[in-house]
Amino acid sequence: MTLPQSGAHPASPALSFCLPISRHHRLPGLGWHFQYRRLKKTLLLSVRFQRLKDSSLKGPMINSTTHKDVGVIRACEMLLDEMPLFDPSLLQDLDWSSSKVSFSPPISPLNPGDGLVLRPLRPADLDRGLYKVLSQLTEAGDVTKEQFRAKFDHIKRTGDYYVVVVEDTNLGQIVATATLIIEHKFIHACAKRGRVEEVVVSDVCRGKQLGKLLVATLTLLSKKLQCYKITLECAEKNVEFYKKLGYTASAETYMQCRFFN
Ligand SMILES: CC(C)(COP(=O)(O)OP(=O)(O)OC[C@H]1O[C@@H](n2cnc3c(N)ncnc32)[C@H](O)[C@@H]1OP(=O)(O)O)[C@@H](O)C(=O)NCCC(=O)NCCS
Repeated sequence: MTLPQSGAHPASPALSFCLPISRHHRLPGLGWHFQYRRLKKTLLLSVRFQRLKDSSLKGPMINSTTHKDVGVIRACEMLLDEMPLFDPSLLQDLDWSSSKVSFSPPISPLNPGDGLVLRPLRPADLDRGLYKVLSQLTEAGDVTKEQFRAKFDHIKRTGDYYVVVVEDTNLGQIVATATLIIEHKFIHACAKRGRVEEVVVSDVCRGKQLGKLLVATLTLLSKKLQCYKITLECAEKNVEFYKKLGYTASAETYMQCRFFN
């Protein structure tokens, strides 16, 4: 068995022994979230099984973690670190014929540009400079890996957050991100409404239609998820950007009560 090296890419051979588990346990028709929990459980069970097998071969149960355990546990952690926030196929099945946004040269979620990949957020993106990009939008703060992971797991459980990123795969760095949040209503016959948040493209990648691609993708996704409308708040200087994407200024006033910065 190949032991994984920390920091290796998900597609690296280090994880290859785990990948058949994920393929084997991906059952058609089941939601991604369910499959993620199922895979997590399977991986933990396989670690425990391996330990029991080892201890029965070597005699009495050994309390300490073996070298093999460490390798399997690290591989499991790496696999979970690359688990997407939501089912990536949602981004591939969008109905672009209903969008009035055009791209020149043509780009799409499947092909956002040379060396670029558009995909759901993964826990490992913390180490790919996610906060460096977010800090170009606002005070992003300093977070530990544990804080980030806890937040990621929380928002994944809700099933209502669609955080997308663009990764420059040559650099292994996140260069753009945007978020769609689904809000559930009692009004409008128990409707859903989408909100676009945290749209930011790294300054070195601006002007390549990535901002347009992210917002257009999330707008179509909200429609696919049956939202009756999608809204956002933006600075005056960005109004023209969103108008180009089919958004119109609302007569309503944005109000707030700020408790912390
Ligand atoms: C606003 C932002 C997301 C735009 O991203 P981008 O990738 O540079 O923009 P794109 O290349 O997709 O531009 C798409 C179109 O909008 C135009 N555009 C881009 N930014 C614009 C702006 N601030 N105002 C008006 N038009 C703008 C482009 O000229 C382009 O026009 P075209 O289609 O006619 O050629 C990016 O500048 C950014 O991250 N800014 C800092 C963070 C921020 O303010 N985010 C918005 C929070 S609401």
